[in-house]
Amino acid sequence: MKFRAESINQYNEFYTESMEQTESYWAKRAETFEWFKQWDEVVSGNFNDLNVKWFDGGQTNITINALDRHAKNTPDKLAIIWESNDPNEEEIYFTYSQLLKKVNQFSNVLKNQGVRKGDRVCFYMSMVPELLIGVLATARIGAVHSVVFGGFSAKALAGRINDCDAKIVITNDEAYRGDKIIPLKNITDNALEDTPCVKTVLCLERTKGKVSMQAGRDQWLNELLANASTECEPEVMNSEDPLFILYTSGSTGQPKGLQHTTAGYMMWASETYKNVFQTDDDDIFWCSADIGWITGHSYISYGPLLNGSTQVMFEGVPTWPDAGRFWKTIDKYKVTHFYTAPTAIRALEACEAKFVEEANLSSLKVLGTVGEPINEEAWNWYNEKVGKKNCPIVDTWWQTETGGIMVSTLAGVTPVIPCHATLPLPGVELMLVDTDGKEISGNPAEGNLCVKRPWPGIARTIYGDHERYRQTYFSTYPGYYFTGDGAKRDENGNYRITGRVDDVVNVAGHRIGTAEVEDAVNEHKEIVESAVIGIPHDIKGETLMAFAIPFKQSANAKELLPTVNTLLVDHIGPIAKLEKIVIVPGLPKTRSGKIMRRVLRKIAANELDKLGDTSTLLNPEIVDEIIAAMKK
Ligand code: WT7
Repeated sequence: MKFRAESINQYNEFYTESMEQTESYWAKRAETFEWFKQWDEVVSGNFNDLNVKWFDGGQTNITINALDRHAKNTPDKLAIIWESNDPNEEEIYFTYSQLLKKVNQFSNVLKNQGVRKGDRVCFYMSMVPELLIGVLATARIGAVHSVVFGGFSAKALAGRINDCDAKIVITNDEAYRGDKIIPLKNITDNALEDTPCVKTVLCLERTKGKVSMQAGRDQWLNELLANASTECEPEVMNSEDPLFILYTSGSTGQPKGLQHTTAGYMMWASETYKNVFQTDDDDIFWCSADIGWITGHSYISYGPLLNGSTQVMFEGVPTWPDAGRFWKTIDKYKVTHFYTAPTAIRALEACEAKFVEEANLSSLKVLGTVGEPINEEAWNWYNEKVGKKNCPIVDTWWQTETGGIMVSTLAGVTPVIPCHATLPLPGVELMLVDTDGKEISGNPAEGNLCVKRPWPGIARTIYGDHERYRQTYFSTYPGYYFTGDGAKRDENGNYRITGRVDDVVNVAGHRIGTAEVEDAVNEHKEIVESAVIGIPHDIKGETLMAFAIPFKQSANAKELLPTVNTLLVDHIGPIAKLEKIVIVPGLPKTRSGKIMRRVLRKIAANELDKLGDTSTLLNPEIVDEIIAAMKK
């Protein structure tokens, strides 16, 4: 395969070349894509002007590279094997030629609904084939997709729709999710009470559950698709034209709409997939993420297709009908490359051993993990029980903002070190800094993880708020992209990610900003103010707890919990539920009024000797009172 690093020496050569001859390194790779017009400049802009551009002046469409060229060269190769939530429902196969036709039909449906280049199209669907097809169709006509994970609430959906001013929402009647049914269309209806921008809703029939259709606004997608032409010319896109917006939580405020652009993202999704996973022509790749998250964007919708791979797309959940579902599915399709999250691994490890032991799993060649630091026990279990100590594990560190993998072992090429993401990919220049922003050179080292220069896949802005983009990522250490993560670097330069160093909690691999959760908790009629932190959890990695000041100090935390959680499910979704509440008389605050969550984290962990200097607090006496409340 062209420009794939296949030995450690080649990785080293590629890495050095990407640092020293950046332009020619990426130009060579860009030439492997199809363009309507060549680029003028490989890269421009930097982390000071925040006007980063890759392949500027070039024109392409990501779908001609993900679909048309394979539909031409390998039309009958399988692109997608779709596995239903229900193991008894027949799977669906799409070759590249069939997938292109489906995408074209969907593209024509969108066009007929008046969707034009640059318009935002919101998807609120489960993992049905039409989600993937719709996302690609949006890209084909030059519109901008914004996929909202089907587990978010109506309010969260409405907030995202309004933020990006979507004019159309695409959903399904209901979603199958294990033995549960999620009423997506009903939730959409509720969300749309507050979204004046939305003129059209297309609803896919999936469960045939009862939904109400609003005349003049709602239409059945199935019928429109069936009647649409299978031909649709791709829109000519400039390299820096937006491809999608995806929302993610940060340490302050409401979720941010990270905006990715066409050519740089295409390059990054494609190159990282190729180098990290090292799939060959006959391999079967399976990323178990949902397209509602960045992992699903880069390693379902784009990376594998850009490389002409065959992949499994799964509608269901790992534990239904039983905890053998992943393993049975791997055997059913002879999956060679399996990519999942530590939280799923831990959940399955906690189930009866027979589920994994009864499976054959001999087709597997490479295992991947993503989303949070993987603990040693889970790593060993994955390695032994799933990989039979025969499959390299790629621990891939990256973020919604980075567009694709940044630090990872290249499977079979560079060394695997348990629980370490290991080495940066070509193009990625990392730096560890201390709290004063000084670079820590030499090895070993530990500090805050930054990136020194632009790589093709970096999100270019926060939709509609470039200043917030600067503030969030480039103001802590001016001139550098700050990831929000801490990391260690060993004597050989291998990175181990230690986790978030900001007010972001990683619950089951999902990023949740504590500020957003607090905003919702504070709306509870019995609560004055709250502070939310993450605490360790066996399966989810972290879970949320709140310290809350109630109007009446006699309030009972256990009684408050269910109604607070109802509120959180309503404002954000089930992933934001609290594990527990501790009633406190006050919160530790700095003189400028900021909650010192660091102090609360130490109290929750019972690390009272590590509280640090609390004398600078506005209310130092509160610390002992919180410790006492915690013990109650
Ligand atoms: C945050 C990004 C990237 C797709 C899924 C999550 C954590 C991600 C790893 C890993 C340790 C990891 C980081 C990062 N994270 N992968 N392999 N090892 N931590 O995307 O929702 O944007 O979250 O997930 O803390 O900052 P996201």
